[in-house]
Amino acid sequence: MEIKRSGASLSRIVLIGEKLKKISLKEKVDYLLLNRGVNSVVNINLKDVVKNIDFNSTDIQVYPAGAGVPALREAINVEYFNSTSKASNILITAGGMNALDLIVQTVDMDYLFLPTYYWGCYFQMLKVRKVGNKEYSSQSELYDMIDELRGNAVLICDPGNPLGEKYDDEEQFKLIKTLSDNNVTVFFDSPYRRIFYNSKDDYYSRLMELKNVVITESFSKSVGLSGQRLGFIHSTNKELIDELAIRLMYCTNGVNAFAQHVVLSLLTTPEGVKASNDFKKATANDIFLNIKYLQKRGFLVEKYYNTSVPKGIFAVVNFTEEELLKYYIGSVSLSFFTKTQKEEASNYARICVSSPHERFVSYFDAIK
Ligand SMILES: Cc1ncc(COP(=O)(O)O)c(C=O)c1O
Repeated sequence: MEIKRSGASLSRIVLIGEKLKKISLKEKVDYLLLNRGVNSVVNINLKDVVKNIDFNSTDIQVYPAGAGVPALREAINVEYFNSTSKASNILITAGGMNALDLIVQTVDMDYLFLPTYYWGCYFQMLKVRKVGNKEYSSQSELYDMIDELRGNAVLICDPGNPLGEKYDDEEQFKLIKTLSDNNVTVFFDSPYRRIFYNSKDDYYSRLMELKNVVITESFSKSVGLSGQRLGFIHSTNKELIDELAIRLMYCTNGVNAFAQHVVLSLLTTPEGVKASNDFKKATANDIFLNIKYLQKRGFLVEKYYNTSVPKGIFAVVNFTEEELLKYYIGSVSLSFFTKTQKEEASNYARICVSSPHERFVSYFDAIK
């Protein structure tokens, strides 16, 4: 048979993880796995949450609605949009990756503009969908690029992956508004944001007012449920939502009902809200302490945070992937996250700072 090859490749991060597992077993040493992109300060404690879910209900045992469980779409409106949007603007997807893939294949554009340092999967999924990509080096540079951007789309990820940089909300909002007003589509893909914010945050309800902004979200990071494969897309463009709903239907036939009911309980029951808040609090606390520790030791590569602050679950440190391995720390070379700055980036590594603080310190203290 003939294969329609995409030319895309599998993630190097997965391969590094497999390599580390093998070394760790062979050497009988416990590595600090900071190469991964998951929160690992604590697990979210679902014990009290699942107790109240009726697994025998037809809601869980039969096909869910193609666009997502209606109650979950409404709960997302309440939690993320301060009830200012509508369930019909929201589609439930099989994680953030599925959400991004759907918009990349549906929104007509020649190029998606990615930051110089970007999450590798953006690039790979564009390749699969045969959409071009271009680069911007900083958010402020986008103002001067508007003619080139018009009719295309810009990806904003804040706090970012791989740098973990967080831009000022107001400055960023001003930029996104300018882009949207100038007919530039903005994909706001910031699944790390809600680790640090709760339902009082009104950023999404403000972004929603901008007609060319599409929001993709995920429950993998903010509530630590990457195994459940759940996310959503928000847009006020009815034509876009209608087309996305068709594509979502014919690639999923509805997204896992059990996962949807777990997240619904997290968002709407007192036990769920408590479990989410406890998870976010512990996670944000150790991320903060770990970044402070790296700064104090002079390990953070400060030049990447000149116009932003280091806040997210990732940080860039002054060591190569190989140097960190000598101290039993798993990481990913920063060169893997850029096309144009590979040489410079090969001196540094991206680490996940969402790791228990004491354990984190014990490994880095070994570096004199
Ligand atoms: C920036 C960014 N966006 C989206 C995703 C997708 O998350 P998921 O498919 O697990 O929901 C990830 C996952 O690592 C990510 O880093």
